[in-house]
Amino acid sequence: ASTLGAAAAQSGRYFGTAIASGKLGDSQYTTIANREFNMVTAENEMKIDATEPNRGQFNFSAGDRVYNWAVQNGKRVRGHTLAWYSQQPGWMQSLSGSSLRQAMIDHINGVMSHYKGKIAYWDVVNEAFADGNSGGRRDSNLQRTGNDWIEVAFRTARNADPAAKLCYNDYNIDNWSWAKTQGVYNMVKDFKQRGVPIDCVGLQSHFNSNSPYNSNYRTTISSFAALGVDVAITELDIQGGSAQTYASVVNDCLAVARCVGITVWGVRDSDSWLGANTSPLLFDGNGNKKAAYTSVLNAL
Ligand code: XIL
Repeated sequence: ASTLGAAAAQSGRYFGTAIASGKLGDSQYTTIANREFNMVTAENEMKIDATEPNRGQFNFSAGDRVYNWAVQNGKRVRGHTLAWYSQQPGWMQSLSGSSLRQAMIDHINGVMSHYKGKIAYWDVVNEAFADGNSGGRRDSNLQRTGNDWIEVAFRTARNADPAAKLCYNDYNIDNWSWAKTQGVYNMVKDFKQRGVPIDCVGLQSHFNSNSPYNSNYRTTISSFAALGVDVAITELDIQGGSAQTYASVVNDCLAVARCVGITVWGVRDSDSWLGANTSPLLFDGNGNKKAAYTSVLNAL
């Protein structure tokens, strides 16, 4: 195969990218994105501040631009994200307790009903666990509504769109030896045991010098999969852009049947949230394929 999407499809997987609605007028960007990728995540446009800027008033204009571009070009869409401590609109930041809990439920219902039947995977809850050695929850306004907020979010999501696969998504849960990874693993295990509806775990996989790729990544992927969930690599970028590390990530996903696909967090280095100077993606700022691109294509 000669593109990332077609190469991933040889093993029944997808290869995706984050898409920013503001760049859909850049023909170099859309040409590469359309050619190479067959799954799309809106980089910001389906987040809480974008979709419900005022309480009870939903706005899907930017989210729909990304969604429509993807579907009109034959791609599937990952929804990102419904319940998160970050990128909350001001009105939500100032809520707490039962009114925040209800606002979270209403938000999930509002967004998921708009996209009902259209989203392959939803990141229902994003980044709910703490960094460091606790293995516990991150403090946030949502967490302070009660420890059951995550399972309430998943149960709400299942009812809102039974066709979507429901994911828990986080960063720094790539290294199997880290407490945060174990904390998420134990939550997913508990959810599966108690019948809380969860279908997938998203490993964001933002690799850098503080959280580098580790060869136990394959153990992380296979361990989550063994709980009976799909695993997706959802926001891959590698600071420095090592071709060898990119190949290792691909090989680790391919080694696990339930690793369903890989999404990189942007098209060209110049599109990266990290800044082009860190060279984290598969195309350079001129749209040329990098060594990491060839390495990924050959590994798929
Ligand atoms: C980032 C976007 O790339 C930026 O444009 C935005 O300013 C901040 O959010 N984890 C996530 C993503 O789940 O939503 C974040 O995306 C990157 C980290």
